[in-house]
Amino acid sequence: MLIPQNRLQERVSELGQEISQAFDGKDLAVVAILKGSFVFAADLLRAMSIQCSIDFMGISSYAGQPGSGVVRITKDLDESIAGRNVLLVEDIIDTGLTANYLLHNLKQRKPASVDICALLDKSARRLIDLPIPYRGFEIPDVFVVGYGMDYQQLYRNLPHIAILRLNGGQKARSETIESDQADNKNES
Ligand code: IMP
Ligand code: MG
Repeated sequence: MLIPQNRLQERVSELGQEISQAFDGKDLAVVAILKGSFVFAADLLRAMSIQCSIDFMGISSYAGQPGSGVVRITKDLDESIAGRNVLLVEDIIDTGLTANYLLHNLKQRKPASVDICALLDKSARRLIDLPIPYRGFEIPDVFVVGYGMDYQQLYRNLPHIAILRLNGGQKARSETIESDQADNKNES
């Protein structure tokens, strides 16, 4: 267990309030990245008190190798985002290559703005510096599953976030972590 269900609920609710304040009165298009962010996005939207639309983009890392930086689009957006404020909702930013690719891809469609909201940030493995204005938790360099995230398409339905130990090869940290404090949420 890395992050129990109640901590996820608390933090997602805080993020929902922050986003609602930031985009109050603005035209907000939430874009959730499938499959990993579907649970987070569903909870985040219900924690938001402002009007917004939701659309999905499906991506798959090439040959199932996360971190390769090669991304295949399996489902594109249904609606145009031109002129709109986009919130890109991701499960986890690891090397940052996927999110960087998505940012560039979305910016080509001429939105008014694009901001990243990521539930988890594995910043120790970052290869590309990315601003993450809305971030749930900073986590150590461990492989996690649950709350939408998978290992070989399994464990997405766990209600908490757990560390997956692969043959004991990776020394896992088992303590429960705390969320980012408000004063450091803007660093990345
Ligand atoms: P990046 O391109 O290295 O930032 O990888 C981001 C993507 O890799 C995420 O959206 C996840 O789909 C996947 N990923 C990275 N780390 C993990 C993990 O610990 N568990 C499950 N999926 C992960
Ligand atoms: Mg993902």
